[in-house]
Amino acid sequence: MNGDKDSEFNDVNKAWDRGLVDRRESVAPYVPTPQSLVNTMLEMAEAGPGDIVYDLGCGDGRFLITAVRDYNVDKAVGYEITPHLAGVARDNVAKEELSSKIKIENSDFMEADFSEATLITIYLTTSGNARLRPKFKKELKDGARIISHDFPITDWVTATEEEFSKVDTHKVYYYTIPDAYTRKPKQKQDESSDRWGRIKKLFERL
Ligand SMILES: C[S@@+](CC[C@H](N)C(=O)[O-])C[C@H]1O[C@@H](n2cnc3c(N)ncnc32)[C@H](O)[C@@H]1O
Repeated sequence: MNGDKDSEFNDVNKAWDRGLVDRRESVAPYVPTPQSLVNTMLEMAEAGPGDIVYDLGCGDGRFLITAVRDYNVDKAVGYEITPHLAGVARDNVAKEELSSKIKIENSDFMEADFSEATLITIYLTTSGNARLRPKFKKELKDGARIISHDFPITDWVTATEEEFSKVDTHKVYYYTIPDAYTRKPKQKQDESSDRWGRIKKLFERL
């Protein structure tokens, strides 16, 4: 999506690197999630009819467009702090004729209200996720899900067996509310007792 906009994106990221973007608001530079991973993540989160999807830092709008067009979710909302990216996202939504179902806000998601969201997609940073954590806890209803590309929400417990799912070179962290913060983390296997178990077995065999 928008290969011709790459140089503009690079300029934004250079500006971010040089501290020219207001980092009090922006918690991550622009790096798009590969389209195949967008689909995989929406499938993992079982996106579908009845869902209201929020992408926090929506870039070119690919999560929102895919969720509405390919997974038939009811509605999608994207927050994007970088004005020209918000414009690109709006253009992409218009091209797909999905403006009635997708809203793009050119603003800081920290000032948004997430309470209607049933599925949140994020590709930010670990520190950015940590800033969002209290808002998620306060505003999201039971049953809401959050799926994060590459970065965990620290102190939260994933809904999957493993701490993250590996997709090619990417990690995906999937959380459900309220389990993410009420479920006890799985006990790590106690190495010393495990070693003792192996020694006992050795003696039993003698
Ligand atoms: C790594 S990109 C992810 C883009 C898109 N979600 C995707 O996965 O393709 C992170 C995006 O978050 C935006 N962003 C960072 N902090 C933000 C904030 N506080 N409010 C809104 N957008 C923000 C950045 O401008 C950037 O476009």
